[in-house]
Amino acid sequence: MSDHAISTLLDEDRRFPPDPAFAAQANAKPEIYDRDPDEFWEAEGRERVSWFEPFTTLSEWELPYAKWYVGGTLNVAYNCVDRHVEAGLGDRVAYHWEGEPGDTRTVTYAALQRDVVRMANALKELGVRKGTPVAIYMGMIPELAVAMLACTRLGAPHTVVFGGFSADSLSGRMVDMGCEVLVTQDEAWRRGKPVPLKETADEAMADAPGVHSCLVVRRTGAEVPMTAGRDRWYHELEVSDDPTSCPCEPMDSEDLLFLMYTSGTTAKPKGIVHTTAGYLVGVAATHHYIFDLKPETDVYWCAADIGWITGHSYIVYGPLCNATTSVLYEGTPDFPDHARWWSIVERYGVTILYTAPTAIRAHMKWGPEYAAKHDLSSLRLLGSVGEPINPEAWIWYQQHIGGGRCPVVDTWWQTETGMILITPLPGVTTTKPGSATKPFPGVVAGVLNEQGERVEQGGGYLVLERPWPAITRGIFGDDGRFRATYWERFPGFYFAGDGARIDADGDFWLLGRVDDVMNVSGHRISTIEVESALVDHPKVAEAAVCGRSDATTGQAIVAYVTLKGSEEGSVEMLDVLRNHVAHKIGAIAKPANIVFTPELPKTRSGKIMRRLLRDVAEHRALGDTTTLADPAVVNEIADRAAGSPADDA
Ligand code: PRX
Repeated sequence: MSDHAISTLLDEDRRFPPDPAFAAQANAKPEIYDRDPDEFWEAEGRERVSWFEPFTTLSEWELPYAKWYVGGTLNVAYNCVDRHVEAGLGDRVAYHWEGEPGDTRTVTYAALQRDVVRMANALKELGVRKGTPVAIYMGMIPELAVAMLACTRLGAPHTVVFGGFSADSLSGRMVDMGCEVLVTQDEAWRRGKPVPLKETADEAMADAPGVHSCLVVRRTGAEVPMTAGRDRWYHELEVSDDPTSCPCEPMDSEDLLFLMYTSGTTAKPKGIVHTTAGYLVGVAATHHYIFDLKPETDVYWCAADIGWITGHSYIVYGPLCNATTSVLYEGTPDFPDHARWWSIVERYGVTILYTAPTAIRAHMKWGPEYAAKHDLSSLRLLGSVGEPINPEAWIWYQQHIGGGRCPVVDTWWQTETGMILITPLPGVTTTKPGSATKPFPGVVAGVLNEQGERVEQGGGYLVLERPWPAITRGIFGDDGRFRATYWERFPGFYFAGDGARIDADGDFWLLGRVDDVMNVSGHRISTIEVESALVDHPKVAEAAVCGRSDATTGQAIVAYVTLKGSEEGSVEMLDVLRNHVAHKIGAIAKPANIVFTPELPKTRSGKIMRRLLRDVAEHRALGDTTTLADPAVVNEIADRAAGSPADDA
């Protein structure tokens, strides 16, 4: 974040106390903060989920690995689907699905159960058993959630790869996890155009020889290449959808549920491990209190993509475990026009909306008139996640979308935390625009200074002081990296990599990443991932990447590139390199600007001085250059950046 954004946060003094009428009906009451963490999680564990065998020990912590609900057995699909049908809720809508072209489907819990059983039986046909790793590469169609639940029904761990990722990103993840089966679809719709998921999946499977079977769901109906012996159309498989044909596999509390790959400070994405019981209890409990969920009456919409952790925890597992009625939307907010989201809110009577600051800022840019055209009076609660929300966007959201009457919950968490950790509780917390306020009950957070001393009031590094149920159980296959990334900076604490400030009321203000990880539209991308992709191009000699603040996406990627030999930078080369990055990682990682420069600023020991590049990217006065090998380089870069031809962010 830029210095300007931080100072705006620090100046914020507006306060929004809870509305008494909301408070009276709220799931959370002030006393919730008095509860002992163990007592709280013990009760949530017993109440929020159904067990085949109850747990015997609440938690065990052998730093840095935690176990929760030890000794219990359960099944996630059973908790998310079957038990609701057994309880007589089969006719309740699980998902109001809307396709981007405007087609719709209403999926009740009874229908979801049949779909999940059918998909599980199809996966069994392809050889999936308890423990078989499955990759899922799909767009936002009901079958994506169905495929995840089918895996959990069988006890097969999954990794969902966001449909915007490239073939390289997909194959890398499938190889790392050892996936044997891939579920994908012919094509997805995005902004009115088909996205060739199967074609990309074919490219990825060519580099992931362990994948022996591919299940293809039909979405657009396009002709796609099918490889005999490997690829099967889902709709052509004749399998049963009778629940008794495929019982829910009893799983141990600590069995692997899924991996979610995320960026860190090296080029190789980390497979973040989440296990069964702690994750499910954590997401269901947070979903219940933070969104004040009333499953009989609410229509809840988390507008994220299921391919990210937000979608796993708060579109699929948390909401379904709580028997929620959700909206699921396939496409982008600006198709066919900027009012699409608001027409969806009106059409389904959405009561709870959960989205990201980057989306809110896009709507701000388009103007409040689109929301004003629709009846949004059904909304009663708004949520935000993914990056720090600037007070201006918070207020805009609260006024133009929430009509000034809805509590806004700014929720801080990460792929690694699995569930929301720092958040207001609606009906209890006095909110402040830009502050995520307090740790969730049962969560203990703090801020430490450089020396690891506790900061009671002021800024420093955000840490978590004791494990919570959904905490990651590690990085898949890389214990050393797990310890080094999260546990070595401040021994005994989980270090999140974010800066934070605590104010006089004990409220937390999140200040963004403190490492070389950028946050673009709420998604983490590491500088080195993009640098590796750039250097992979045959004409690139060297590259350095940093983030600069961007009015809509939070951060935008700026790349400094030195070309080989006599190559000259040009607008064509810029397009070539941006597309190369999109091809290697995915469109989300495309640099917004590329500055071609004959040299990068380096210290005498040869390290690239990113701090200076960030100064250039933010158009700030250049910081200290005394340790530079050749201080003139920076001025040269600044001049070139000022005249940079490319900025189409
Ligand atoms: O820097 C924080 C930012 O997003 C990071 C986690 O990214 P990811 O694992 O992709 O998960 C995103 C969705 C949970 C954090 O380290 N972040 C997320 N939520 C907030 C936030 N920063 C400030 N305020 C938030 N509410």
